[in-house]
Amino acid sequence: MKAMTNDYYQKRIQKGHSKIVEAAIVHNHSQYSVAIDCGCGVGNDARYLQEKGYEVHAFDKDERAIALCRENAPVTDKLHWYQASFEDFAYPKAGLVIANSALFFCRESHFYSVWHRIEDALEPGGVFCGDFLGVDDDSNHAKNKTSTKFFTKAQLQQLFTGFDVIGIKERNGLYPTMTGREKHWHAFSVIARKPF
Ligand SMILES: C[S@@+](CC[C@H](N)C(=O)[O-])C[C@H]1O[C@@H](n2cnc3c(N)ncnc32)[C@H](O)[C@@H]1O
Repeated sequence: MKAMTNDYYQKRIQKGHSKIVEAAIVHNHSQYSVAIDCGCGVGNDARYLQEKGYEVHAFDKDERAIALCRENAPVTDKLHWYQASFEDFAYPKAGLVIANSALFFCRESHFYSVWHRIEDALEPGGVFCGDFLGVDDDSNHAKNKTSTKFFTKAQLQQLFTGFDVIGIKERNGLYPTMTGREKHWHAFSVIARKPF
């Protein structure tokens, strides 16, 4: 997948936090008010979580994204920004791990090791919330096909074996991207809790 454009980041800042994060925090039954935001982009969700009382560890591989995060909210003892990738971030224990529109930028060869780190980071009763690309997505059929993991619904359900799945929302059709280009999206948004 290509790096995000500056236009994308500016538009994303205007959109505020993701509604799925609001839905997810309700389901965190762990005693942990520590959250990880994987591929945090401009940091809207991380800032929202801090406002909700979480200590947030938010990381992104792109130094431009992390610079915008730091510009919009300084580091405090409850909000930590890191320039890091899915593969090399040191995941702390957490009650909430979010990865909104992010893990589809993880190389396929790294996907399962990253996923195991996320699973390990989650405390029992804690919640994962994030998006995955489906097999019908445009980018799975592009000439220079992206190196990422594309899922069928059955494969995604398999990934969440061992979780209590709270919701999986599937989108499969033409929708605009953040910067207004129409594309065929096939994506799954998942909220799931690690059992006690
Ligand atoms: C579509 S944006 C989503 C940003 C944010 N989660 C949101 O919902 O606004 C994807 C983000 O993933 C980051 N990213 C891409 N590859 C990454 C990697 N290997 N490790 C960490 N972050 C990565 C990009 O820099 C970008 O900021």
